[in-house]
Amino acid sequence: MDDFLSTQELSKEELHDLIKLAVDHKQNPSKYSQALAGKSIATLYEKPSLRTRVSFDVGIAKMGGHAVYLDQQNGALGKRESVKDFALNLSCWVDAIVARVFDHQTLVELAEHSSVPIVNSLCDLYHPCQAIADYQALYEARGNSLEGASIAYIGDGNNVTHSLMMSGAILGLKVVVITPVGYSPDAQIVLKAQKLAAKNGGEVIISDDVMDAKGVDAIYNDTWISMGDKRSIDDIKKTFKPYQTNAKLMTDLGAKFFMHCQPVYRGVEVTDEVVDSEQSILMVQAENRMHAQNAILLTLLNK
Ligand code: CP
Ligand code: NVA
Repeated sequence: MDDFLSTQELSKEELHDLIKLAVDHKQNPSKYSQALAGKSIATLYEKPSLRTRVSFDVGIAKMGGHAVYLDQQNGALGKRESVKDFALNLSCWVDAIVARVFDHQTLVELAEHSSVPIVNSLCDLYHPCQAIADYQALYEARGNSLEGASIAYIGDGNNVTHSLMMSGAILGLKVVVITPVGYSPDAQIVLKAQKLAAKNGGEVIISDDVMDAKGVDAIYNDTWISMGDKRSIDDIKKTFKPYQTNAKLMTDLGAKFFMHCQPVYRGVEVTDEVVDSEQSILMVQAENRMHAQNAILLTLLNK
C-alpha cells in the first residue's frame, strides 16, 4: 500500500489487517504513543469537516506526530499553483498528505507527483477512511466478528455508498444498496464491487425497494445531498421520502444496528428516535474514525 485513495486495491486480508490494527490501537493506545514521533502530516481540505479534521489532528498527536492543517486560504487547490507543484513542495517537508477534495482526479495527481503517501479523506467518488471505521464498528458490535455479516445502505448513491459497498464486497459480506430509481451508485463501481464480492464470498445487491434490506444486521444512512451537490433539497425530499429510516422501518426490517457516517440531518434521512435509539452505533463509528485512520497511517508510514 503506497497510497490510500480507495479500498478497491486492497485484498480481503489487508482490509482485515487494517481493522485489527484499528481495534488494537483502540484497546492499547499507549503502544502507539510514539509511533509517529518526528513525523509531520499535512491535512488538506477543499470542503468543510468536523469528524475528519479533528480525528486526524488528534489521532496524529496521540501517536507523537504533528498535523499541519491546510484550508483554502490560498484559494482552491490548483489555482495559485498547479497540483503538481503543490505535491512536489509538500513532499519536501511532510511525511504524508491527507486530502479532502472535490475531484478524485486531484488525489490521483497528488499521488503521481508527491514522494510521500496520499490518504483520501473524502472525494466525489470515495470515503475510504469512513468505511474502515464503519466496518470496525460493525465488527465490534457483532462481538468481534464480520463472519456472515450483512449491511444495507439506504439513500443516495454517493461517495460513502461506494466505499461501503466496495469494502464490504472485499470483506466478503452481503451488502444491499437501496436508492430511489435514478440515484444508484456508479455503474462501473458496482460492477467492480460485484466481481470482488463473488471472489471473496460476498454479495452486492442493488435495489430500489427498502424491503430488500430485510434481515440485515445494520441499516446505514448518509445525507441525501452531499457537499458540492447542487440539487434542490425540496425535490430530493419528495423523491426520497419513502427511503427515510424510522422506527417502523427498523422494526419491519429486523435490523440490529443503525449506522450513519454523519453529519446527520435529523428528521430528513432518519428520524430522531432512530438516531438516539439503543441500536444506533453512530458515536462508535465517529470514535473509530481516529483509530481506523491511525491504522492507515501506521500501515503507510511504517512499511
Ligand atoms: N463523516 C465525516 O467525514 O464527517 P466530516 O465531514 O465532519 O469530516
Ligand atoms: N456524502 C457526504 C458525506 C459526508 C461525510 C458528502 O460527501 O457530503
